[in-house]
Amino acid sequence: MFSMNSNWWKEAIIYQIYPRSFNDSNADGVGDLRGIINRLDYLQNLGVDVLWLSPCFASPNVDNGYDIADYEAIMPDFGTMTDFDELLAGAHERGMKLILDLVVNHSSDQHRWFQEARKSKDNPYRDYYIWKPANADGSPPNNWISFFSGPAWTFDAQTDAYYLHLFAKQQPDLNWENPALRQEIYKMMRFWLNKGVDGFRMDVIALLSKEPTFADYPEGQFGNLAYYANGPRIHEFLQEMHQEVLQHYNCLTVGEGFGVAAHQANLYVGQDRRELQMIYHFDHAVPRDEFRFLDPAPEFTLAELKGIFAQWNAALGNDGWQNIYFGNHDNPRVLSRFGNAAQYRYESAAMLATILLTQRGTPSLYQGDELGVANRHFTQVAQLDDVQVKNAYQNLKVAEQGLDEQFLAACNRIARDHARAPLPWQDAPNAIYDYYRQLIQLRKTSNALTLGHCVDLDLNNNEVWAYTRQSESEQWLVVCNFTAQRQVFELPPHLHTEKSVWRMGNYAPVGLRPTIGLKPYEALVYQLFG
Ligand code: GLC
Repeated sequence: MFSMNSNWWKEAIIYQIYPRSFNDSNADGVGDLRGIINRLDYLQNLGVDVLWLSPCFASPNVDNGYDIADYEAIMPDFGTMTDFDELLAGAHERGMKLILDLVVNHSSDQHRWFQEARKSKDNPYRDYYIWKPANADGSPPNNWISFFSGPAWTFDAQTDAYYLHLFAKQQPDLNWENPALRQEIYKMMRFWLNKGVDGFRMDVIALLSKEPTFADYPEGQFGNLAYYANGPRIHEFLQEMHQEVLQHYNCLTVGEGFGVAAHQANLYVGQDRRELQMIYHFDHAVPRDEFRFLDPAPEFTLAELKGIFAQWNAALGNDGWQNIYFGNHDNPRVLSRFGNAAQYRYESAAMLATILLTQRGTPSLYQGDELGVANRHFTQVAQLDDVQVKNAYQNLKVAEQGLDEQFLAACNRIARDHARAPLPWQDAPNAIYDYYRQLIQLRKTSNALTLGHCVDLDLNNNEVWAYTRQSESEQWLVVCNFTAQRQVFELPPHLHTEKSVWRMGNYAPVGLRPTIGLKPYEALVYQLFG
């Protein structure tokens, strides 16, 4: 299906499945592997190349599987290893690849390694985790805070020491300084790759190497990722992982670039780095620092969004490559962020699809976006299930302060729960799916749309997103109205041409004019000649 070049992953389209909410085959309220198997034809027909499965391993589900208790066992809620093997074979039979979530910054506290490690200071697994003595007054070793509220250290009385957890206290951080731990991880990666799995999405990969002095933050710098991410040995670890494991397989690797700024990207994904193939950044993710649950940040303007894409394209240049997305399990629904589900569900969902699938980078679609799924509306805090929300609610003392309404309003904008609701297969309209399908086919016919350069035509325009994609042999023009009002876009003179073909859009086909009138959320894709 892919041309036999070594960069097939640049041309691929990834589809993210959150197994818990994708498709429930046995009506027990939880999605499962059988449910995914039952939808493989649907996914093949959509035209995606790679399925990324959020964690499907044994887990107490404090963080919905991002707290793994056994890296080589399937979560019983989801099925068995036999089901997994069938899923993998079924994907392969249909020409799709399957990648897994590699969550190795931390494990679950229920993992056998942690259960051993906490028993005694001389346990062989002790150094698989990061332990420090309390300060003289009993306080934690430093003032680091967790991304899921409260101190990043929890005291374990059994051995009179604190352990580090950058996320929930049930997610102790693994100690990558320990070569034995690293070898265990590589062994586990080989286990899955030898089964035929096609690669990994790597959870919070920039956090693996810790700041060795474990010094306090300067006052006022709490939550500043600079203290957690891109630690001094991160590239050494990733190069070792590449050498030990990745280079021996024709696999796809995408790092979750939490804490990675554009100027640091090519250290991870530069062609000669021998680390990862691509990463995805957080610059346009919804900010969810704890205080945001009472005071959400305003949504990005279109000009800001364009600026972020332009900055990353410039930083990567011809050296590195990125994975692009608008939604995933950690963000609210893109339709609710940048579209208009109430009035222009099809038009705005299709417009957003057009951008994602014609920008530069390997796109990840998030399950349900092709069904036009929008945010939920939560009326009670109890309806939210995410550990980040629950911890923030407690730590911010929301109930005590009578701030429930304010908290709920913030959650209705920023909570991760929006993307984690079961997919509404029954009442899903086909129109958006069909649009995605055609767009995916179109993208595959064009080397400009996959590999070509992207030139933004009007970075400051807050209503219309317009750009060209160019390769040596092709030129394409994409013009999208980001608003519910009619807009006019003046095409720059160098693009005025007699010879253009309308190739895709979410309204009736229309010829290209120097002055382009756009209907609400209209998306237009033209191929230009001459
Ligand atoms: C990543 C995951 C997120 C998880 C966190 C801790 O950001 O995408 O869902 O909560 O890591 O594993």
